[in-house]
Amino acid sequence: MDRKYLYIQTFGCQMNVNDSEKIVALLAQDGYEATDDAGRADLIVVNTCSIREKAAQKAYSQLGRFRLLKERNPDLILAMGGCLAQERGKTAMGRIPFLDIVFGTHQIHRLPGLIRQVAASHAPMVETGFESPVKSLEIAAAPPNGSVSAYVTVMQGCNNYCSYCVVPLLRGPEVSRAMSAITAEVERLAGSGIREVTLLGQNVNSYGLSGSGGAQFPHLLRTIGRIRGIERIRFTTSHPKDLSDDLIRCFADVEALCEHIHLPVQSGSNDILKWMNRGYSREHYLERVERLRTVCPEISVTSDVIVGFPGESDRDFEATLDLMRKVRFDNLFSFKYSEREGTAAVALDRRIPERVKQERLQCLQKLQEQHTLERNSAFEGRTEAVLVEGVSRNSERDMSGRTRSNRIVNFRGGDDLVGKTIPVRIMKAYLHSLRGDVQKERNRCSSK
Ligand code: SAH
Ligand code: SF4
Ligand code: F3S
Repeated sequence: MDRKYLYIQTFGCQMNVNDSEKIVALLAQDGYEATDDAGRADLIVVNTCSIREKAAQKAYSQLGRFRLLKERNPDLILAMGGCLAQERGKTAMGRIPFLDIVFGTHQIHRLPGLIRQVAASHAPMVETGFESPVKSLEIAAAPPNGSVSAYVTVMQGCNNYCSYCVVPLLRGPEVSRAMSAITAEVERLAGSGIREVTLLGQNVNSYGLSGSGGAQFPHLLRTIGRIRGIERIRFTTSHPKDLSDDLIRCFADVEALCEHIHLPVQSGSNDILKWMNRGYSREHYLERVERLRTVCPEISVTSDVIVGFPGESDRDFEATLDLMRKVRFDNLFSFKYSEREGTAAVALDRRIPERVKQERLQCLQKLQEQHTLERNSAFEGRTEAVLVEGVSRNSERDMSGRTRSNRIVNFRGGDDLVGKTIPVRIMKAYLHSLRGDVQKERNRCSSK
């Protein structure tokens, strides 16, 4: 087989990252080797996102930048996958006339065949149908060499139809993988040196409600918790309306389950939550957080918020700030509302001007910075179990890993520590990371 080079660029969420890892593994079977240099590629894949208008624009402008390479090398194949590809289908070809392949979120398994067809005929191909069963879900991904941590997609799609969100339109209805397929994959990963798995799904806590023989998410967690070699389990994303007491109990029962939950609240105002079709109230959200902290006092809670949803008044926005003060999130991702075609919120009036959105975003981010620093500072002086991932992004002289609460810790050490869980005493807290000193193994950790 000739050696060919694949350059892949990924936008969007962790599921897209996992999909790109699947694409790399799948195309390796056809002789494609991944490269960081787009200039030498025989095949370029752009895995796109469409969650907000900005994400869509970024993907298109990136695709546009490959025009020169295409002109220089007419055999170069340019493929667009992911959520924007799913959404735009054939019309993407109008926007980027030199595109060869557009493949949707259920069509990853077809990519090798599409590439062969395009190479033979030079005619563009578009495949964006939804399928059942979703074959793409079962492709084995290849985490990058030397990874300590891996993603495992356990379900895909969403039935919630939050009024602002395109995901149900782009990933399709909820489909869960069989437990046996998931556990086999996790066992294989453990065998190849992976120590931490993050279970992915648009709404992981409704895992099992469709297509997996009625297995439920807490049962899946308990089963994976027994797989040898897997020290840490994480999952994302959970929906507050489906966060059961049984799932919360897992944070106490399943030793490998890390003390962190990402629980997007979106707004602290009951009126806005109703217009967003979120299916819970602020009181329910606060009660769930309290329950989580009762069962697992160590738990870190992170969240997502949208500002400037249509009709959001100053009072509604204040209610979000008030909820933040009550919860004191460990971290929060905040977004300006972005109107998406095909979603219910398009029909709502009382749109919020860009200037107001921007002011609210800044105000909210300032408050969150205080909370993040306050929560991070509580770790100063503690000794934490850190799973070492590799060389630090900040400095080549430092190593970097994560606490169970998902905080990045930088420290002085050698690369022989990669893949090990070691005690690190936290000396200083920053906004985005902690700094610490490695302790002798005999010193006990404050956390597991
Ligand atoms: N499945 C996850 C979230 C997926 S999208 C969940 O249910 O929470 C990630 C985040 O993007 C969302 O939590 C939301 O805060 C944000 N988001 C989604 N659609 C958006 C839009 N139209 N405008 C701005 N932010 C949006
Ligand atoms: Fe989008 Fe809501 Fe589904 Fe999350 S739960 S993916 S925000 S529709
Ligand atoms: Fe983006 Fe699709 Fe993920 S829209 S956030 S890549 S599910």
